[in-house]
Amino acid sequence: MRSQEPDQVTSESVPGAIGVVARAVRHSFNGLNVIAHADVQVKPGGFLAIVGDSGGGKTTLLRLIGGLIEPTSGQILLSANDQSKQSNSYSQSGHVAPVATLNMGTISPGSDISFCFQEGRLLPWRNVLDNVALPLEMHGVRPQERRAAASAMLAKMQLSDSEHKMPAQLSGGMRMRVAMARALVTRPKLLLLDEPFGALDEVTRLALDEELRQLWQRTGTTTILVTHSIQEAVSLAKEVLVMRGKPGRTLPTIAIDLPTGAVQRNSMQFVSLCQDVYQQMTAQTTQAPEQMP
Ligand SMILES: Nc1ncnc2c1ncn2[C@@H]1O[C@H](COP(=O)(O)OP(=O)(O)OP(=O)(O)O)[C@@H](O)[C@H]1O
Ligand SMILES: [Mg+2]
Repeated sequence: MRSQEPDQVTSESVPGAIGVVARAVRHSFNGLNVIAHADVQVKPGGFLAIVGDSGGGKTTLLRLIGGLIEPTSGQILLSANDQSKQSNSYSQSGHVAPVATLNMGTISPGSDISFCFQEGRLLPWRNVLDNVALPLEMHGVRPQERRAAASAMLAKMQLSDSEHKMPAQLSGGMRMRVAMARALVTRPKLLLLDEPFGALDEVTRLALDEELRQLWQRTGTTTILVTHSIQEAVSLAKEVLVMRGKPGRTLPTIAIDLPTGAVQRNSMQFVSLCQDVYQQMTAQTTQAPEQMP
């Protein structure tokens, strides 16, 4: 049960959630343009879903927002709603302070930003508890403290019984819950999710969607979710951003104004919002996206 909006979050809430503004972002890999133009805005504590054409640059956009790569042009600003942090959040170029790339899960040195990828990317030689504790270990948290924090997060994900299992002993859904616990153990201020549940069966996916939605409403962590599912986007996010074409371009954001509470996927309002997103994803453009100004 949950009924709270992010601005009314409980003691689990994350202070200083990060707001994101990306303006006129363009990105090329080795001269090949993969994002032609991206504008993104997420207020602190907001939840944005990004959907769109495969290969259109969604993962690249997420990596740019997370600071893993620098845009070819344009500006990405991350700001904390906690005033004391604000001045630390910007580098001279207007980009957020550098973020280290770790080869699993990924956390900023300040542990402000967490990633969660489709495959989960658990370390196969570590048990569940030590996988979840890993980001804290990278930040120099003492063994007892980090195990306690990991254990508490696993309890929230209903995985207490699996703390000592190895990743290979888990189902796909359990692996994703462990990956999510690992992404959340540092209490990030910005959570970047790249198709986290894409490989799961529908029933498991719906259950994890619901867990994610409740978690967001309890903590108010700013969340950006890339997904191929329009229904998942509309049921979880407060705003949906469509990326079209190759190289990708963002279209105007669609606000998702559904009543608080469990989403009724057969309601007129839900179906109509899904149609709005679908229309943006499929509408014919008068010119090829590459030729648009
Ligand atoms: N590190 C990289 N080096 C070179 N090209 C890359 C790199 N990462 C992505 N690309 C290319 O950039 C384009 C966009 O890729 P990206 O993964 O961002 O798309 P996507 O929208 O996430 O696709 P999907 O929906 O299939 O996950 C693709 O053509 C891809 O091959
Ligand atoms: Mg992708």
